[in-house]
Amino acid sequence: MNLEIDFCLNGSEIRLSIKPWETALDVLRNQSGLTGVKEGCGIGECGACTIIIDGKAVNSCLILAAQLDGRKVETVEGLEVDGKMHFIQQAFLDKGAVQCGFCTPGMLMSAKALLDKVENPSTDKIVEAMTGNLCRCAGYVQILEAVREATCMKAPLNKDDVTNS
Ligand code: FES
Ligand code: FES
Repeated sequence: MNLEIDFCLNGSEIRLSIKPWETALDVLRNQSGLTGVKEGCGIGECGACTIIIDGKAVNSCLILAAQLDGRKVETVEGLEVDGKMHFIQQAFLDKGAVQCGFCTPGMLMSAKALLDKVENPSTDKIVEAMTGNLCRCAGYVQILEAVREATCMKAPLNKDDVTNS
């Protein structure tokens, strides 16, 4: 038996036909071709599969695909717009926070969920938001620096918004 689900994926409405037992991770990778959503542990421990659902970072390996119905879903593939990297991606590059890159999509999505919600997070808040994402290359210092840098990159934009309004 298949279920039909409709949801907003990286800014576009889509409909998928899924099995009731399939995870969001499986469906996003295998049906939507979004292989930026990585499978590490498959049991909610590594954060490699992190996506954003309705503004919240979640492990897609722990979510049934059926739970995506009617939701707003963001994956790493939605960060780049018109060939231009998202400022969080730029910060990761600038700070050398990418080694093998396997953890990077999940890290980026956890950072985005935080910065979408909190304009200027404290270091403690950044650490807390990134805690569920493991990096087997152990590049944590650079990763935390990149999120801090992304916070600064975002700040001038906000100031301009205020000035121009
Ligand atoms: S693959 Fe989902 S948390 Fe590791
Ligand atoms: S950069 Fe290799 S796992 Fe994080």
